[in-house]
Amino acid sequence: MEETKKRMLSGIQPSGDLHLGNYLGAIKNWADRADEFECYYFMADMHTITVRQTPADLRKRSINQLAQYIACGLDPEKNVLFLQSHVPQHAQLSWVLSCYTMFGELSRMTQFKDKSAKHKDNINAGLFTYPVLMAADILLYQPDYVPVGEDQKQHVELTRNIAQRFNSIYGDVFKIPEPYISKMGARIYGLTTPGEKMSKSIPEGCVFLMDDPDTIARKFKRAVTDSDSVNPVRYDRENKPGVANLMNIYATLTGKSFEEIEKEFEGKGYGVFKPAVGEAVIETLRPIREEADRLIKDKAYLDDIYRQGAERASYIANKTLRKVYKKVGFYQI
Ligand code: TRP
Repeated sequence: MEETKKRMLSGIQPSGDLHLGNYLGAIKNWADRADEFECYYFMADMHTITVRQTPADLRKRSINQLAQYIACGLDPEKNVLFLQSHVPQHAQLSWVLSCYTMFGELSRMTQFKDKSAKHKDNINAGLFTYPVLMAADILLYQPDYVPVGEDQKQHVELTRNIAQRFNSIYGDVFKIPEPYISKMGARIYGLTTPGEKMSKSIPEGCVFLMDDPDTIARKFKRAVTDSDSVNPVRYDRENKPGVANLMNIYATLTGKSFEEIEKEFEGKGYGVFKPAVGEAVIETLRPIREEADRLIKDKAYLDDIYRQGAERASYIANKTLRKVYKKVGFYQI
């Protein structure tokens, strides 16, 4: 039965703390996916060092985030969870693929252009070849689908081009993967900047999964709304973006419609509405935080998940790598 499932693979950079936007926008929906797909998820720590990191922080996030993903419902029995740097085939295939990727192609990647503008003092070669490593990440596992955000679509396109180029020379070595852009998941904006996606770079408007209840309550109390005192809780994305965002969070958590929410808070001001949304978030995140805290203390368990994940991942990765090495003419012993 397992064999008939389509395969899905995605990487996540352990570059910052997970927040409510990540959870409601994506992670929340991952748990159910395992029923339909054979899922592989890995922490892309090798991609993360293209931007300078504090080693101790990267190390800590790489393990804490595993705990957080599991606490969010990602079952390590049903999904293969691993750390990129634990599977050496990623770096090995990346080198081969870099010889089948053109300088011009990499120069056109918008993420490279953006990141090199942002980190002018550290435009390293890894930042430039980042998409080649990503192609290797993907092609090693022969997945059908690669769930990514809009911003990573261009990298998946490039992956397809590299795979097609390689296949056209050597025969069918790689499966050509499709980007999978999920329509599920809510788009959550910053509590203090409702015009922009919730982001860790604006921490006062960002609710982190590991925030304690008092911190969450405070952030919601300070959420940006407007001065509408006549008919405050009303869904109007254009004119009342802060309120719309809070309503969207509340709707996603409670399953209530916007009309129901409008009715619930009719005649009540933001002083009632904002803490109510905060309370709903606190109660949603409480079990996740508690479970993540519990898992983080059980390092042996988490290490074991990573160990098993790496074992299962490298079994498949190695099969692809062997084929590639043979095709390009590396002498086999
Ligand atoms: N580049 C992706 C991001 O920043 C992370 C990533 C690395 C990835 N390798 C991948 C995603 C392979 C999908 C498949 O979001």
